[in-house]
Amino acid sequence: MKTNIIYNESSETMHQINNESIDMIVTSPPYNINISYGNKVSKGKIIQSKGVKYKDNLQEDNYRLMLEKVFSECKRVLKKDGSIFINIKNRYNDGTILSPFWIQDYFKDMFLKNIIIWNFDWGGSTNKRFAPRYEYVFWFTKDKEKYKFNLDSIKIPALNYRPDRYKSQLKNPSDVWKISMVSGNFEERTEHPAQYPERLIERIIGCSTFKNDIVLDPFMGSGTTAAVAKKMSRNYIGYEIVPEYIKISEDRLKKCKKGELLDERDC
Ligand SMILES: C[S@@+](CC[C@H](N)C(=O)[O-])C[C@H]1O[C@@H](n2cnc3c(N)ncnc32)[C@H](O)[C@@H]1O
Repeated sequence: MKTNIIYNESSETMHQINNESIDMIVTSPPYNINISYGNKVSKGKIIQSKGVKYKDNLQEDNYRLMLEKVFSECKRVLKKDGSIFINIKNRYNDGTILSPFWIQDYFKDMFLKNIIIWNFDWGGSTNKRFAPRYEYVFWFTKDKEKYKFNLDSIKIPALNYRPDRYKSQLKNPSDVWKISMVSGNFEERTEHPAQYPERLIERIIGCSTFKNDIVLDPFMGSGTTAAVAKKMSRNYIGYEIVPEYIKISEDRLKKCKKGELLDERDC
């Protein structure tokens, strides 16, 4: 089985991947909110690009069916002690919020360990309601108890540290993570309209995998998961249907060095 590769095809059938061979899956599925995937945006204007475009406006039933196929493949390829992390957000449509808790229906045979709130400072603006400033990360494990959770590698400084009360100056980062969205002046910024930040994925890869493990992203987009996996000396496999995004990932991967994000706590 090949690793460190992004396939330009749909992840509905991941025929290149063996059963129970993947250590961890992290992904952000398309949201079905009519995002202009596959188009280049320049100075606020959409410039049509060549190649296949993904239409982020499937009939809701077709959208859910596509996710069902992808998630069932995810379960097939995941190792027994593996984890799946899914980043998803509320959708706002026709004046009301549709929360994404339906995602749990696909994973009734797995164990929901956390619903992480990823909180950020800026994003779309509105004066009709409070500005949305969070997304979710659902964490499911295949086994109830046997799963990787390398907490020491992702602890954060305890600002309220008291030597008389706490053993360590580091603490569990909790299930609310404040991590900036990828803004226009970030080095990691690409043309992808729905890129998630490397720091978010760094924490997820750090806590749920070890060096040389295999990380899968079935909706690879601009290659964030692959770039962070490489920097942390993990292997990656990805799927992405828009060829332009694969090119963006490849360019991005050329620029990052294997192991550049490893520190002495990694094993
Ligand atoms: C929310 S984006 C992922 C963004 C990614 N996390 C990043 O940081 O760039 C979802 C991606 O899934 C791709 N996609 C949609 N349907 C797909 C399918 N069936 N198989 C593989 N990729 C698909 C879209 O083209 C889009 O790039």
